[in-house]
Amino acid sequence: MDFKKLLADIVILQYVEPSEVEALMTRPKDASMGDWCLPCFKFASRFGKSPAELAKDIVSRIGAYNFLEKAEAVGPYVNFTLDKKTVAADVLERVLGEGEEFGSSEEGAGKTICIDYSSVNIAKPFHMGHMLNTSIGAALYRIYRALGYRVVGINHLGDWGTQFGKLIVAYKKWGDRAEIEKRGVRGLLDIYVKFHTEAEKCPELDDEARAWFKKIEDGDAEALELFGWFKEITLKEVGRVYDRLGVTFDSYAGESFYNDKMKPVLDELERDGLLEESDGAKLVRFKNDKYPPCLLVRSDGATLYATRDLAAAIYRKNTYDFYKCLYVVAYQQDLHFKQLFEVLRMKGKPWADDLVHVAHGMVSLEDGALSTRSGHVVFLEDVLNTAAAKALEIIDKKSPDLPDKAATAEAVGVGAIIFGMLYNSRIKDVTFSYDKALNFDGETGPYVQYTYARCASLVAKCEREGDAEDLDGIADEDSRALINAIAAYPEAVRMAAEKYEPSIVARSVMDVAQAFNKFYLTHNIAGAQPAVKNARLSLVEATMTAIRNGLALLGIKTPEKM
Ligand code: ARG
Repeated sequence: MDFKKLLADIVILQYVEPSEVEALMTRPKDASMGDWCLPCFKFASRFGKSPAELAKDIVSRIGAYNFLEKAEAVGPYVNFTLDKKTVAADVLERVLGEGEEFGSSEEGAGKTICIDYSSVNIAKPFHMGHMLNTSIGAALYRIYRALGYRVVGINHLGDWGTQFGKLIVAYKKWGDRAEIEKRGVRGLLDIYVKFHTEAEKCPELDDEARAWFKKIEDGDAEALELFGWFKEITLKEVGRVYDRLGVTFDSYAGESFYNDKMKPVLDELERDGLLEESDGAKLVRFKNDKYPPCLLVRSDGATLYATRDLAAAIYRKNTYDFYKCLYVVAYQQDLHFKQLFEVLRMKGKPWADDLVHVAHGMVSLEDGALSTRSGHVVFLEDVLNTAAAKALEIIDKKSPDLPDKAATAEAVGVGAIIFGMLYNSRIKDVTFSYDKALNFDGETGPYVQYTYARCASLVAKCEREGDAEDLDGIADEDSRALINAIAAYPEAVRMAAEKYEPSIVARSVMDVAQAFNKFYLTHNIAGAQPAVKNARLSLVEATMTAIRNGLALLGIKTPEKM
C-alpha cells in the first residue's frame, strides 16, 4: 500500500490536488515524530494563513481512519503517525511476497539506456582510479535493469592514438613476446616507458613510431596483428577484474571502431557551415564563446578524442535509439562533454539533451606507500587481492571454523571496496583506506554483510512455531524504524536512477542494517512467544530481502555465514 498517497488523499484542502500534497510529503527527521510529515509553507500563503495555522486547520479536518493512529500539528508541519500494525502487515506482506523483485519495477519498459562506463585504455594499467568509475557504471546498469529498462553497457575502449605506433617500435626493439604474455600490461608498460627514455636520446624513434601508426591506419597486416595483440592482453587482464566485480558489457566498441564513421559526420558539419578552418585545423566555435572551440581535426589531418565521441554519439542514437545515453566519466572531462553535447545541439540533434555526463570524483589511497602521488601505479587487481587477503585475516580471527573462508573473504574484500566507492555521492573524491573500508563496525560493506549473515543465522537457528503472527511484537519504536527503513528501499532505487546516484541505494541499505541492529539489541527472537517470534522472524526475513536486493544492485555478495 502506498501510505504516502493515502495520506495525501485524506488531507482536505480546497483547490489543492492530492498529488500536490503527496509531492511535499517527507519522512520526519526524527522517527519519534511519526511516519510522514507535511510541511505547510507552500500552501499557507494561498489561504492567507501562517503555515502553523494551516497545519492546525488541516489536522482539524482529518477524519478517523483505521490505518491512521494520529495526525498532529507541530509548528508549520502536520505529522502523521500510521497504525503500526497496519503498516507492519502491509510492508511484510509486500516485501516477502515480492522477494527478489522487491525494489524492482517495470517503469522503464520500452526504454533503452546506454551507459558508457569503465572505458579502459589499451596497454595502460587498469588502476585504482577506475574503480569508482566501474562501480558507479555497473551499479547504474543493474539499477536501470531492475527498473525495467533495456540497458546497453558500453566499454568505449581507448584503443586509438599515436601511442600504439610507439608501442610497436618499442616491442620490435626490446620486447619479448613470451615475457609480455606472462607479465601482461606491466610488460607493455615497461617497454613503453623505455621508448620514451630512448626517444629523448634518439628522436628518430618518434618518426619510426609515426610510420608504424600510419601502418595501423592503413591496415598493414603486421601492424594490425600487434595492435590486436595489445588489445587482447589488456582485455584479458581487465576481464579478470570484471569477473571478480561481476561487471559485464554489451559492447566493446571503442575509439578505433569509429575510424570510418567520422568522415560523414565531419562532412555534414562542413556542409552546415559549422566547421571552421583555423591554421589548417578544423574546429567548431560556440556562440558567444560559451566554451573554447572544439577541435575536431588537427592540422596534420589527425582526428581527436572528441571527433570519435561525436561519431559514437550519433552511432549510438542510430543503433540503440536510446532514451538516455550516460557517460560515466570523471569530472575532469566536464568541458569535453559540454562541448560534445553543444556541437550535437548545434547540429540540430534534439536528443543531445538526452546525453548525460555522469561525473564522478577521483580516488586516492590513504596508504602513502601505495599512493599514486608517489608515482606508483596502483593496479586494481592488486587492490582487490590485498582487500581479499586482509578480509581473510579478519575472518580467520573472527570465525576460524568458517567453511569456505577464501570465498567469503573474496566477497567481503571486494564488497568492502565497492561499498567504499559507492557510499558517498559520486562527485566527491574518495580517499580509500583498507582499514576503514574493512571495519566491521563502521559504515562499510562488511558491516552490512555481517548484519545480513547475522539475520541468516537467526533464521537458521529459530524455528517458526505454527502460523500465527502477533504484530504487537513488532509495534514498538525500533521495529517501526526498521519497517520504515525497509519500506523506503524501492523509492531509493528509483531516486538512484533519477539522479544517477548509486549512493542513494548504498545509504538505504545502510539505514536498514543500522535499524536492524538497533532492533536486534532490544528484541529477543528465539525466546519470544511463538506468535511474536514468528512476526519477528518475518521482519528479519524482510530485512534480509532488502539488504540482499540492495547489495546485489551495487555488485556486492551476501554470504550467509561470516
Ligand atoms: N578512455 C577514456 C579515459 O580514460 C574514457 C572514455 C569515456 N567515454 C567516452 N565516450 N569518452 O579518459
